[in-house]
Amino acid sequence: METNPRALIWWRGIATIAAMLAFCPSQADESYSLDGAWIVESVSPQGYIPQIVEFSKDTNGISGIWTSRPKWKDQKIGGVTVRGASITFRVGSTADFRGALWQGRFVSRDVFVMRWMGENGVFGSDGVPIWSRTFRRASRSTLAALEADAPKDLITRKLPLPALRELASNGLALTPPMGWNSWNTFQDTIDDKTVREIADALVASGLRDVGYVYVNIDDGWQGRRDAHGILQPNSKFPDMRGLADYVHAKGLKFGLYTVAGPISCVDKVGSHGYEEQDAGQFAKWGADFVKVDWCSAGELYSFDVDGRAIFQKMGEALRETGRPMVYSICTGSRDWGLKAGVWGHKAGGNLWRTSEDSFVGNRWGSLSVRFDFDGVQSANGPGGWNDPDILLVGLQGLTVEENRTHMTLWSMLAAPLLLGNDIRRMSDAVSEILMNREVIAIDQDALGKQGRRAVKNGETEIWTKPLADGSTAIALFNRGAMDAEISANWSDLGLHGPQRVRDLWRHQEYDEGALEYRTVVPTHGSVLLRVAKASKAP
Ligand code: GLA
Repeated sequence: METNPRALIWWRGIATIAAMLAFCPSQADESYSLDGAWIVESVSPQGYIPQIVEFSKDTNGISGIWTSRPKWKDQKIGGVTVRGASITFRVGSTADFRGALWQGRFVSRDVFVMRWMGENGVFGSDGVPIWSRTFRRASRSTLAALEADAPKDLITRKLPLPALRELASNGLALTPPMGWNSWNTFQDTIDDKTVREIADALVASGLRDVGYVYVNIDDGWQGRRDAHGILQPNSKFPDMRGLADYVHAKGLKFGLYTVAGPISCVDKVGSHGYEEQDAGQFAKWGADFVKVDWCSAGELYSFDVDGRAIFQKMGEALRETGRPMVYSICTGSRDWGLKAGVWGHKAGGNLWRTSEDSFVGNRWGSLSVRFDFDGVQSANGPGGWNDPDILLVGLQGLTVEENRTHMTLWSMLAAPLLLGNDIRRMSDAVSEILMNREVIAIDQDALGKQGRRAVKNGETEIWTKPLADGSTAIALFNRGAMDAEISANWSDLGLHGPQRVRDLWRHQEYDEGALEYRTVVPTHGSVLLRVAKASKAP
C-alpha cells in the first residue's frame, strides 16, 4: 500500500500531542482522582466478603478507610500519593497481614490496579510475582447491591471458649508431614484443575514416591455457607468430594485450609463459630490435613490470652469427626510460634508455625531468619512439629546453593516439608534437591529430634542432630557473602574418636578414621554429613 507522506506527518503529530497529554503531570493529576467509593475485586468473588475502600480529601491530603460488608473492621489508609496515573498507599496496622505498602496505577478513571508489596514494602524486591487487587469505582446502587448480598451469617462477636485441657494424641504425623501447599505459588488463584495437575505431577515426577503425599489447598477455595450453615466451596472448586477422590486415587492425601476468625487473610469466609460444622464438612469431603490460620481472630481475641483455647476448639472439633486429620496450627509470627510451641500439641496440633510467612520479602532474607526462628526446640517430636513454613525451594529468587541450604536447614530442624513451588515445571536441579532420599531421611528420622546450632563462627555455623541409629547429622552452613572454609572438629561437636563420614549432597563417603572434616562451603551454601563411629581404628 502506498503511504501518503502528508497523512503520516498528520498522524505523527496527533500521536505526539496525545503522548504529551498523557505524560503531562498536571493534566493527569486532574484526570485521575481517588475520591469516592471503590470495590476491591477478588479472584474468586463467590464467598468473598465484599471489601470497600472510600477515599476523601481534606486539607491534610487524601486518606481512606477500608471496610468489609458486613461492616465490622475498619482499617485506615494513609500515605496516599497520586502522581499521574501512579498510586501508592499504606493500609492499616500489621496485625492482620494487610499492614503494608500497596503500589499501582489507574487503568482508567474508574479502575485502578494495586500490587501488595508486603510489610515494609520489601515484598517483590527480587522480582517475584506478588498478589494484586483491582479497585473498581462503585456507584451508590452497586454499593447497595453489595450490602444486600454480603454474607449474613458471619459471627463477628466474641464467643465462649472451651476450658483448657490436654487433647489425647491423634496418632498422626509421627514424622514431619511431607507434601505440597498451594499458597507460595498460587495464592488465592488456586483452582480445581491446578490441584489435579499438581496431584498428577507429584506422581509423575516421583515426588510422591519419596514421601511428598499431602496435596494441601490453602486460602482461596472457600465459598458461602448454605442455609444450614454448611460451608460450600467457591466456583473454582465445583466438586470438592470429587477432587479429594481424585487425589486419593493417586495414592496421595488431601488437605484444606480455614481460619479461626470470621474472615480469612484473603477475605474468604472463616470458621469462627462454625468449628464443628466445618470440621464435619472437611471430614465428609475426605480431608486428611487441615490448616487453621489465625487470620482476623485477632480482631476479637488476644493470641496471648486466648490462642490456646481457640486452637483447642478446632482441635476438639476435628477429633470429634472421627476422621484422622493432621492439624496444622498457623500462628504467623515468631513470638506466637514460641507460645504455640508450649501448647500446640496439647491443643491437638500436629504442627505449628514458628514464623512469619516464608513467602513474604526477599527470598534469601526470609530463609536466613529461620536459622534463628526455630521455635521451642524441646517441643519437636513424633506427633508435633515446629513449622518454619512452606518451602521456597524452586521459587524464583533463590540460587541452587540457597535451595540446597533451605532443604538442609529444614531437614536439620525436622521441619514439615511442604513444597511451595509449581511442581509441574521444575528444573532438574530443583527436583534433584527435593528428591534427595538421603537428605529426606535426615528430616524424617524416627527419633524426631530437632537439630541445634553447635558452633557459630561469624557467618558460618555448624549444626548437629542426633539420629535414631546412633549416628549424627552434621550441617555446615555458610550464611556469608563470600565462600568460606569450615572445619568440623568431632570432639568440639561432642563426638568421640574417629568417625565415618558420608556427604549426603555429593553421595560420597570419606576416609574412615578422620577426627575432623574440613571443606570450603560456597556463599549461602551448605554441606550435610551423616557421621557415625568408625568401625576400624585410623
Ligand atoms: C497467612 C498464612 C499463610 C497463608 C495465608 C493465606 O498469611 O501465614 O501461610 O495461609 O495466610 O491467606
